[in-house]
Amino acid sequence: MPVEDAMRHRVRTWFAKPRIMKMRSFGSVVATRIEDLCDAIFDRWYRLDFDGVIEQADLATKQHASHANAVRYEAVAGIDLRVVVSEALRVDPTIQNFLDLGSGKGKSCLYVARSFGFKNIVGIEFSAQLIEIATANNAKFPRQNIDYVLADAAQYKMLPVPTIVHMYNPFDAKILDAFLTNNMEHFRSYGSVIAYVNDRNRSKLTKFGFETVYRDQTRKLSVYRLPDTFA
Ligand SMILES: C[S@@+](CC[C@H](N)C(=O)[O-])C[C@H]1O[C@@H](n2cnc3c(N)ncnc32)[C@H](O)[C@@H]1O
Repeated sequence: MPVEDAMRHRVRTWFAKPRIMKMRSFGSVVATRIEDLCDAIFDRWYRLDFDGVIEQADLATKQHASHANAVRYEAVAGIDLRVVVSEALRVDPTIQNFLDLGSGKGKSCLYVARSFGFKNIVGIEFSAQLIEIATANNAKFPRQNIDYVLADAAQYKMLPVPTIVHMYNPFDAKILDAFLTNNMEHFRSYGSVIAYVNDRNRSKLTKFGFETVYRDQTRKLSVYRLPDTFA
C-alpha cells in the first residue's frame, strides 16, 4: 500500500478501531466485555431495537424462493463489525460505499455510519418488517446517509461504485453463489472488498477466485478481494 494510503487508512480507522486492538495488554476478554458494554449503553441510550433472535422459519418475507436458504436474524457484535470493516478498509482506504447484505434491524449500517466515514450506506433485506424496524432505528439519527432496500440478495445488482460488502452470515452458499454470479463483473471492475463475519460459506468465495486477505480463525472473521484488482 502506498505511504499516503497507509496514512489515510490509519487516520480513518483509528477512532473506530475496537479497544481490543488498542489495549492488547489488558487481555482480549476484558477488552471485548468493555466493547460490548459500551455498545449496549449506546443502544439503550438511543432506545435502539436490535435485540432478539428471529428464527429462519419466522422471518416474514415474500421472497419464498430464498426463504429456506436464509439464516436467522440476530444482530452482529459491534466489535466483530469494527474489526472486519477496519481490515477491509486496509485493502483500499479510499472506498466510500458500504453495503450490508441482509441488513436486518440495521445494526451494521448504523454502527458503520457512526464509526467510519462512508459517504453512502445501503442495507438490503428481504423482510419488510425488519426494514421497518431498521428505518425506525435510523430515524433517531436524522443525518445518517443510510438507505434500506427491500430486496433479495440472490437477485441484487450492486451499484457501479467501489464498495465494502458486509455479510453477517445472512444466508447459505446457494444464495451467496447467486449473489456472486450476478455481481462478478462488478467485482472485476470496481475492486470492491467483502467483509465477512461468521464466515461459514467462505469456501464459496475462494471458488469464485477471491483471495483471503485477512482471517481471524477464532472469531470467524475474514476479508476478500479479487487478486487482479490489487491497488
Ligand atoms: C444474521 S442477520 C444479520 C443482520 C445485520 N446484518 C446485522 O449485522 O446486524 C441476517 C439477515 O439476513 C436477512 N436475509 C436472509 N436471506 C436474505 C436474502 N436472500 N436477501 C436479503 N436478506 C436476507 C435475514 O432476514 C436477516 O435479517
